[in-house]
Amino acid sequence: MKPDLNVIPIAHTEEIVFGHLVGEVRTAVKVANEMLRKKLVDDKTGNKTDTDWHFNELLKPEIKTNDSYRYLPGGHWKPINCSPKWKVAILIPFRDRFFHLPILLRYLIPMLKKQLLQFSFFVIEQANKNLFNRAMLMNVGFLESLKIFDYDCFVIHDVDHVPLDDRNYYGCTDMPRHFMSGVDKWKYKLLYKNFFGAVTGLTKENIRSINGFPNVYWGWGGEDDDIWKRVKDVGLNITRYEGPVYHYDVIRHHHKSAPLAKDRFELLRRSHDRLKKDGLSNIVYPIPVYELHTLYTNISVDINRIKI
Ligand code: BGC
Repeated sequence: MKPDLNVIPIAHTEEIVFGHLVGEVRTAVKVANEMLRKKLVDDKTGNKTDTDWHFNELLKPEIKTNDSYRYLPGGHWKPINCSPKWKVAILIPFRDRFFHLPILLRYLIPMLKKQLLQFSFFVIEQANKNLFNRAMLMNVGFLESLKIFDYDCFVIHDVDHVPLDDRNYYGCTDMPRHFMSGVDKWKYKLLYKNFFGAVTGLTKENIRSINGFPNVYWGWGGEDDDIWKRVKDVGLNITRYEGPVYHYDVIRHHHKSAPLAKDRFELLRRSHDRLKKDGLSNIVYPIPVYELHTLYTNISVDINRIKI
């Protein structure tokens, strides 16, 4: 069945997701945010402080939902009656796609609950007007989410891709996963065999072994091909399952297409040379701004070019 990809307001999505608990959840998130702000901003100087304390102490109170899940402010869900096979951080690189986000979350939350995973949503927002840098945001999301919880599986999710079947399991395997076998815009096929974009899953060890993601792709395109090369370079193999269970639909865009990364082909040619030099090993960025929302934790970051 075709999913309903119509825009609905975030408040309505909250009502769908939390049902009669929506009021309690909103209050808990408000209180947690106030605590977070007190902790993050020095009262006297107004400066932001570093976050080398246990962030998850603030994610309180836990709310028991009526479907055997515990919810924590900022979009964190843990199953109550079983120990989850994977503790998944969903990282959504983001800028200015506020219509897409509630549509995606409305589909993913019930799906991940059915799969009995522990899961958290992190929206990693680029807080400037530089060209969009998806892969650098992925590095930030990886490092920052680990300050909150020791996740073992990271699903990197484009905000506009909606899975069509909730049997598309969002846990990891030892090897990096590509969750998509086809997408509506390409007649439910992939453009090329080595495509590793849109929705991918890597374990913490996978990400460390490829030195994270390249920081040099500013603008649309190329970074996912570079990540594919990194994975191959370190001797990992990508798992992808075939068939309609792994199909996606794209939420139609009502905005201008992002400008291209004009240097992407040149960068891609030198991918191997940069593997060890560029990624988690050299990334620098200012302390991000955290904000807890009912459905996700927003990490807003002002990323800029770094020298290799
Ligand atoms: C780009 C990728 C993109 C793919 C599909 C390639 O040419 O390099 O980044 O995901 O096309 O659109």
